Amino acid sequence: MTRRMKLVASGDYLHTTGPDSPADLGFDAFREGLFDLTLLPAAPQSEAVPAAALDGVDGLVLLGQYLMEASVATAERLVIVARAGVGVDKIDIDALTRLGIALFNVPDALTEGTAAGALTLMLTASRHVVALDQLTRNGRWDDRQNHRGHEIYGKTLGVIGPGRIGAELIRIVAPFRMRILAYSPRLTPERSAALGAEAVPLDRLLAESHFVAICAPLTVETRGMLGAREFSLMRPDSVIVNVGRGPIIDQKALVEALGEKRIAAAGLDVFEAQPLPAADPLANLDNVVLSPHAICDTYELRRGVLAVIARELQGFAAGNLPSSILNPAVLDTDLFRRKRARLLGGLATPR
Ligand code: GLV
Repeated sequence: MTRRMKLVASGDYLHTTGPDSPADLGFDAFREGLFDLTLLPAAPQSEAVPAAALDGVDGLVLLGQYLMEASVATAERLVIVARAGVGVDKIDIDALTRLGIALFNVPDALTEGTAAGALTLMLTASRHVVALDQLTRNGRWDDRQNHRGHEIYGKTLGVIGPGRIGAELIRIVAPFRMRILAYSPRLTPERSAALGAEAVPLDRLLAESHFVAICAPLTVETRGMLGAREFSLMRPDSVIVNVGRGPIIDQKALVEALGEKRIAAAGLDVFEAQPLPAADPLANLDNVVLSPHAICDTYELRRGVLAVIARELQGFAAGNLPSSILNPAVLDTDLFRRKRARLLGGLATPR
């Protein structure tokens, strides 16, 4: 008997009250007869995918919810998870590997959108756009001289975590004639030369940069990387933006540094706790621009991400492997091999 590959998409795809249809989000790329795709009921990103949702499912398209061992432990058929993004800090990768489930992400499809988002935050934070907007709306025109911004042309940009997104940010700020510093513990002189950046220790980057852009993933090395000591090294006219992950910054120390104007401004797309609690002290500062982990989120980006995932899953159903598998050790496990063989053996598509 032949069948279609049973896929589900995590419930945060529909966690919206807006006009998005599955087609707007890019799910049309899956309508080729090969997949039997269900969008799970709306669920917040602060929750894990529920185990019951993965019962009898071959593949999961995961936006930003947690995927923990309890989510997948009983998912006997589940053999592939597509992370519709880059970061995998909310996924228990070891559990997936143990349970014979391959995980892949789509790193390239987010690069431009996130780099453009970082630049948006650099510009809006340094020009105090949110505060200026409020003045204009509220008849406080003459207050504008209290919100003078900082120039970007000719300044120094320090990129923490110059991977794909950091490299794209460096490329798109070229017209601003910035001097570029970069820090990563593994940055080689060859790579920094290719980026047009000077590789420097973190403390030097912080002390010399007018703009600090965090583009790093959350790892044991990056968690808590910037705290009170690091903010004390920064220039009083500096602007920090974070499009990496919230816990890279000690948020309490950042609030203090911003509140006491020891640094000029911040543009933040990610936070220690998400959603950012409504009463968070960050929300009372007028020198920050805040975004709910959505600065890269465009229709074009979402469609691009799902087009890549549809292509990779079509390839998987035809016996190929996705190009960006994050737990390659799974490929050698009997469990993965058995699950994959069972899936491929039962599918309707000619291979
Ligand atoms: C977004 O933050 C992602 O990691 O995809």
